[in-house]
Amino acid sequence: MTVSLSTTIGNFTFDNCFMNAAGVHCYSKEELLDIYQSNAGSFVTKTATLEPREGNPLPRYADTSLGSINSMGLPNLGLDYYLTFLEELEQSSTTKPTFLSLTGLSSQETHQLLNIVNQSSFQGLIELNLSCPNVPGKPQVAYDFETTNHLLAEVFTYFTKPLGIKLPPYFDIVHFDQAAAIFNQYPLVFVNCINSIGNGLVIEDESVLIRPKHGFGGLGGQYVKPTALANVHAFYQRLNPSIQIIGTGGVINGRDAFEHILCGASMVQIGTTLHKEGIPAFQRLSQELREIMVQKGYESIDDFRGELKYFA
Ligand code: DHB
Repeated sequence: MTVSLSTTIGNFTFDNCFMNAAGVHCYSKEELLDIYQSNAGSFVTKTATLEPREGNPLPRYADTSLGSINSMGLPNLGLDYYLTFLEELEQSSTTKPTFLSLTGLSSQETHQLLNIVNQSSFQGLIELNLSCPNVPGKPQVAYDFETTNHLLAEVFTYFTKPLGIKLPPYFDIVHFDQAAAIFNQYPLVFVNCINSIGNGLVIEDESVLIRPKHGFGGLGGQYVKPTALANVHAFYQRLNPSIQIIGTGGVINGRDAFEHILCGASMVQIGTTLHKEGIPAFQRLSQELREIMVQKGYESIDDFRGELKYFA
């Protein structure tokens, strides 16, 4: 039996449903090319701001037995760096569509970034990050529904390229309802669930693991899978079918990816596991997912996407 991991987001086709999660192995051209040249279906850049940023003081990332904690503080090389790289990549190779992640430190900066991207030759997808938990003094936009609605309303007055949003986890059914009601008003191509569970605290011996914010940081890995699956499925149930879901959070093996797709994900992003294992993670996860699909008789991810079973 031949099994395909190919998928689509909007009008874009990908040979493989796995890619990195923004923030992991995507800071420099070299890292992005590592992913591009692997069997991953695509890559997303480190979330870009208008100006380059150094981010928070080190140590700012730690792997733990159950996942990871980070408070990076948006270190990035600036929008120009990533946009120029993507434009050049598109000139030299059109084999994989790519994602550009960006966020402004203010609404005004977000509009500035999106206007630059709109006027560029970049032909891929744009992921607007509404969920960075680690910049001191800057709350996550997506936890403020009024600001989120206002921002999206303004963005879609001028932005014409394929746009999705990166969301933080929500933890209340009413919040799923309210957020979905907002997102359904806009021609979003995708929502990506979830960013890290913000502001956890991991302790070893008597000390925190990372320097910024007295050790508080975003959690990834095994800690977050049930929350990620719930968010993927909650939005799959509520959003217009034209808004696809990217599933991110707690994917350590093929079974975890299978569960994200069952919950409704069309593509699956790998964060902590990619940080721990490096590029070979894509091959391993692809093989493990294919084996599950063979066992169950599924030839494509469309055969089981969203088919989560409930009790009667
Ligand atoms: C950072 C962390 C995030 O979870 C995010 O969405 C953007 C930036 C960071 O700390 O760099």
